[in-house]
Amino acid sequence: MGSRQGGGLDPSPEPTPDPSGQQAAPKRRPLRDGFGFFGSFLKNPTSVGAVLPSSRFLSRALVGTLDHIKEGELVVEYGPGTGPMTAVINERLPANAQYLGIELQPEFHDLLATRFTNMSFHLGSAGDVKQILADRGLPRPARIISGLPFASLPPAVQDSVIDGLVWALQDSECDFRTFQYAHAYGMKSARRFRGLMAERFQNFERIGPIMRNVPPAFVLRYRGVR
Ligand SMILES: C[S@@+](CC[C@H](N)C(=O)[O-])C[C@H]1O[C@@H](n2cnc3c(N)ncnc32)[C@H](O)[C@@H]1O
Repeated sequence: MGSRQGGGLDPSPEPTPDPSGQQAAPKRRPLRDGFGFFGSFLKNPTSVGAVLPSSRFLSRALVGTLDHIKEGELVVEYGPGTGPMTAVINERLPANAQYLGIELQPEFHDLLATRFTNMSFHLGSAGDVKQILADRGLPRPARIISGLPFASLPPAVQDSVIDGLVWALQDSECDFRTFQYAHAYGMKSARRFRGLMAERFQNFERIGPIMRNVPPAFVLRYRGVR
């Protein structure tokens, strides 16, 4: 796979303070999958939102095919964590396409930058996508793939991410893909997210549950801003 950079000016600016008060981890220490991920969950339960990284089965279902992404087009990943979905994107994305991962936690951001040296990562909040892409001179995305734990995110963060999505996907056939754990699917905050998305997007598809993930999860696809 050829070199793939997200372009832009500063590959790792400091995170923008989040108006909702969502906290980024203050320490920067080396982190490994599994055990390290669980440690990050204990420190930041609402923003990490999971005790284990996603399985390759969920990651493959979430990413889908990327063959249609054309030269120079951009795929954005929200909340890559330790990178299970990033690894699938790295395998599937055409070499001349662009990629940017937006990750809130410095430990995960540093790990990603070490693990995927041909990809670009931004330390900050997905809610700031418009400003982040503008600062880096990047186009609107051709696909957004999200690992954000919407069911555990505060309403203000859900709102800012949805506003950013509406901006990013306007006048485009681009789709947004995310997942929700089956056990949390009926939670008030998970329903709130889907309710807001239904108001803003015309097309919705649910895939799964993907059982070969701990815990099982649905993949959700949205397209067509109203
Ligand atoms: C449930 S974990 C998923 C990690 C990885 N995608 C996976 O599937 O294993 C959620 C990830 O979203 C990140 N995150 C939470 N809020 C975020 C935000 N506002 N902007 C960017 N990343 C965020 C967390 O730090 C964490 O890496």
